[in-house]
Amino acid sequence: MFLWNKFSVFHNWRGVVVLKAWSGRFQKDNEALMDDFHSSIGFDCRLAEEDIQGSIAHANMLGDCNIIKRSEADSIVIGLKRILEKVKAGQIEWDIKAEDIHMNIEKLLIQEIGDLGKKLHTARSRNDQVALDTRLYIRKETANIQSLLKNLLELLLEIAQREQETILPGYTHMQRAQPVVLGHHLLAYFEMFKRDFERTHDCLKRVAVLPLGAGALAGTGFAIDRSQVAAELSLQRVMPNSLDAVSDRDFVAEVIFGISLTMMHLSRFCEELVLWSSMEFGFVEMDDAYSTGSSIMPQKKNPDVAELIRGKTGRVYGDLMAILTILKGLPLAYNKDMQEDKEALFDGIDTVKGCLTIFTPMLRTVTFKRERMLAATKDGFLNATDLADYLVAKGLPFRSAHMLVGRLVQSCIEQHRRLEELSLEEFQAASTLIEADVYEALDIRQVVSVRNSYGGTSVEQVKFQLEQAVEWLNTIK
Ligand code: ARG
Repeated sequence: MFLWNKFSVFHNWRGVVVLKAWSGRFQKDNEALMDDFHSSIGFDCRLAEEDIQGSIAHANMLGDCNIIKRSEADSIVIGLKRILEKVKAGQIEWDIKAEDIHMNIEKLLIQEIGDLGKKLHTARSRNDQVALDTRLYIRKETANIQSLLKNLLELLLEIAQREQETILPGYTHMQRAQPVVLGHHLLAYFEMFKRDFERTHDCLKRVAVLPLGAGALAGTGFAIDRSQVAAELSLQRVMPNSLDAVSDRDFVAEVIFGISLTMMHLSRFCEELVLWSSMEFGFVEMDDAYSTGSSIMPQKKNPDVAELIRGKTGRVYGDLMAILTILKGLPLAYNKDMQEDKEALFDGIDTVKGCLTIFTPMLRTVTFKRERMLAATKDGFLNATDLADYLVAKGLPFRSAHMLVGRLVQSCIEQHRRLEELSLEEFQAASTLIEADVYEALDIRQVVSVRNSYGGTSVEQVKFQLEQAVEWLNTIK
């Protein structure tokens, strides 16, 4: 019915030159406006490597299953490898008329090896192909994100080790609460990023599976071997339902959710750095290399990196909302809406990588102001709980102790005094249970060191956490 010369120009049955691989049943070409609107090559060209990788495995399988000749498969593979080299060398000009990365590569293959290239798409659809490419791409990028997370985890451990005796106020409701060790505070972030790391690992179980072989939606009549393709691509499983294989983008949503959590963790950390670098806190000094000034106020030094990461977190949440919303109304099986998953996915991945890439060296240059932190633990009655606990140890029920200390705090507030500045007589006027050893119990270092429960902030517990962190990091080396 139609001819397709080796330059991949199609002639339809009327002899009209058309440029689309699927245009056999079309009587005219698309409007340019239409090409601009539905083509994805502008963004999915970044799947080129994965597309070729998947096609090589597919071609090998077609050859091994005698669906095409082994020699034909070999020539296709050689052609695909040549195209990959050209892609890597930046020698390819993508063709918007060829719509997407899949048809662009097919077109290039036909240009490279002639009509034989037209056999590659046997027993395959772009629907299972794009699902495969996206999975391979995420697997590759997950490794990059993991290595960035690992760098950050190593740095957090290093700083936590250095600051294992630095004391600062801990906050609840942004009000000074109880003193904590800075190393403990930093190890809290270690825990968050550790979970993020583990989450990437867990996601891969569902990402690294094979949709190819699902065909357009219903499978194929050719005697393909899906396990062979999975094995060649080091994928753990073959997806068991063809409709699900082409429709499933759960893994995209899941990965962007994981990225969103990492961004949220970075953002919370950044928020603290913004606060801590303010004159009001003065707990840290940001390095000049990662700060900016003001065009009008000569004195300013602004923590832009931290603010931008906080802002970009909102943007990644947008990516997550986009993918969830794109998927919510889709009937089975493939729908073109799904092409919209890619920009959100790419943006999420680019953004988290960009943020992790700068956050770690920025954090490395942050100066922690130990004296200022310690000084801040003096005001705000951070030892009030300890006075109550002291009374409990002497036999008073906790609730009564709480009430008694609350009254003492109130009178101290009125007199602009600290609890430890009360005389023993004043203490004993409040409760005869209080003795001279109360002052030791109120000492800030003591307040920290008694919190020796598992996971607490005592220097001993922090040392234990540090050991655990080192051990865990060794398992991911
Ligand atoms: N560019 C498409 C996407 O990203 C590939 C699959 C298109 N399939 C189709 N039958 N139009 O989703």
